[in-house]
Amino acid sequence: MAAFLWGVFPYLAISCLVIGSVWRRVTRPLGWSAKSSEFFEKRWLSLASPLFHWGILCVLAGHVAGLLVPIGVYHALGVSDEVYHAFAMWAGGVAGLAASIGILLLGVRRAGVVRVRVNSTVGDWVALALLAAVVWTGTAMTIGYNAGFGPYEYRTTVGPWLRSVLALHPDVARMSGVPGLLQLHVILSFALFAATPFTRLVHVWSAPLRYPARSPILYRTRRHPSTGA
Ligand code: HEM
Repeated sequence: MAAFLWGVFPYLAISCLVIGSVWRRVTRPLGWSAKSSEFFEKRWLSLASPLFHWGILCVLAGHVAGLLVPIGVYHALGVSDEVYHAFAMWAGGVAGLAASIGILLLGVRRAGVVRVRVNSTVGDWVALALLAAVVWTGTAMTIGYNAGFGPYEYRTTVGPWLRSVLALHPDVARMSGVPGLLQLHVILSFALFAATPFTRLVHVWSAPLRYPARSPILYRTRRHPSTGA
């Protein structure tokens, strides 16, 4: 079972993500969208969406720093384990809480606002449920586990395992003593990656990175500026 979960499942999920995204782009290019529901309800969305998106962007930056950067780099830079974990808990905890509250509000809005609910597909609910499960297990780990048992040193277990997966040489044994909650978080994350091409989450590939640098678009009114006609 462990060999499948940590040595096979991640590759199945990543293959699904890559092949599924290419398939969707080729077969349904016009459906490639975040399918905004702003038209149906704006007030809650304008609070919940930035809370979730800014929270998750900070969380993902933290994942790069915590999982892809080897612990030796921190030691070489003179960053003690205490300082690292205090920072990871406060910064990760705040970002995780923002994302957790954001996704909760997005879920309540989707279920509670009739016009949004009737325009929701199964894919929308699957994406929402998986995102909520991933974000809540991650945040429970960062805040709850830390509060109950102290910081968990994932930089010597989950981090090296993830890098071994990316290097196509999975070191399955690294995941054996990892707390169940964190194992669940990782499995749910890969399930989320696998589901992405079949949901509105495909828009992560189309993040508007060039937006701040592009030339401004000038909008002019059709009416005459002085007569208003
Ligand atoms: C390869 C996949 C992933 C791995 C290995 C992973 C691993 C981790 C680890 C080790 C933590 C810190 C736990 C602690 O503090 O003890 C964490 C926290 C968290 N993760 Fe993930 N994660 C993955 C994917 C994701 C994804 C895709 C999301 C969101 C869409 C996510 C959201 C969170 C959140 C919200 C937290 C709590 C805040 C934080 O500490 O940054 N994770 N994850």
